[in-house]
This record gives sequence, C-alpha cells and structure tokens, in this order.
Amino acid sequence: MSNNTSVASQSEKRKRLEELKERMRKDENLPLRKEASNLVFGEGNPDSKILFIGEGPGFWEDQKGIPFVGNAGAFLNQLLSMVSIPRSEVFITNVVHHRPPNNRDPLPNELAAYEPYLDEIIRIIEPQIIVTLGRFSMAKFLPGETISKVHGRERVIEFGGRKIIVLPMYHPAAGLRNQSIKEKLISDFRKIPSIIEKSQKMVERYAPEESLSQKRQIEQMKLL
Ligand code: URA
Repeated sequence: MSNNTSVASQSEKRKRLEELKERMRKDENLPLRKEASNLVFGEGNPDSKILFIGEGPGFWEDQKGIPFVGNAGAFLNQLLSMVSIPRSEVFITNVVHHRPPNNRDPLPNELAAYEPYLDEIIRIIEPQIIVTLGRFSMAKFLPGETISKVHGRERVIEFGGRKIIVLPMYHPAAGLRNQSIKEKLISDFRKIPSIIEKSQKMVERYAPEESLSQKRQIEQMKLL
C-alpha cells in the first residue's frame, strides 16, 4: 500500500509527521485541547497510498491518543480486513484531533482551527486516494454534497497541485446504528481495490516521466 511515486522517503515523511505532531501538541490555540485528555494526531504508514479521514476522537480515542480504537474502530478494522488491507498499511486521521465534549459534532471554528494541520498531514503523506468517513470530512473535499447521494462514488480533486481520488463513505459509527447504512458501507469498501488500480493508472498518466523511470528501473533490475 506504499506510495511509490512520492518524492520524500518513508523515513523523511515519518520525521515530518513527528515534527508536525509536536507542533500540534504545543499549540495552545487549538480550541478543543483543554477538555481533551490526549491529542489524536493519526497513525499508520506515512507512505500510504490511502488516507482515511474520520470526524474526531471519541472516548477511547481520547484515552489512548489513537484514532478509531472504539466500536467504530473495530468495525473499520473489519471493513479493512474484508478487502485484505492491513490497518498498519494505511494512514488514519480525523478532521479534528482532540475530542469534542460529549462527542458532539465539531463546530465550524473548530474545523477551521485544525484544518491547516490536516492539510499538512495530506501534503506530507501525498496519498493517491482519500477515503472520507462521515459528512464532516466529505464536506472538506466535496462541499455542498450530501453523503446519501455521493457515498461510494469516487471523484478526482486537485490538492496542493496533485490529483487525488476522493472516495466518500458513511461513518462506520452510522453503520453500527443502521443496518442499511452498514450494507452500503460494506459495498462501498468493496470498491477500494479497483480504485487503487485506477489511482495507479492516474499516476502513470499524470506523472509519465516518473512511472517510466520506475518501469526502466524495474527492467534494469531484471537484467542484473
Ligand atoms: N470516530 C471518528 O470519526 N474518529 C475516530 O478516531 C473515532 C471515532
């Protein structure tokens, strides 16, 4: 699941993510920090092709400082294993990185305060695919859309000068509350492997030089 077209190496990305996390830890202006126990920055492979973006930490995430470790997280893990994607191979984060009190929805000023950090996470990871989980992360990339209309339908967006496929999905917690949403989430997740293939073709189309040189390197290695 590694993003083999990126310029920065995996260790550089890891270092930049650690520095960003430290900056967030020290940022006294983040509106939700006072009532939260821990910063939930995100976790996973810094070089992943796929980035999952949820809403915000709940009780267990706040306790542990790790995203999606409660009931919704257990369901997300099941969905990932259904399509044979190890959780450790993807990167998972949220639109807000501290728990909103009583798990309420994040407010517009809170979303705005955390957004520059989320944008920096995206720039560092350089994903080919962003899977949005729930309406808040969908709204960041597809403003004005409704999740019931667009879930499971990928869209190409431009972010930081790169083309990225955005795949909006319902939030796993919504799937746990409602059987029909659960079925939609399962069928939307099943589309991920073919979208990974599509994204690879897109990279080859938009970065032909790099993919050609990768192909040459592979050919040369075969000759050694
Ligand atoms: N729900 C989210 O949106 N994010 C988490 O990290 C956990 C639950």
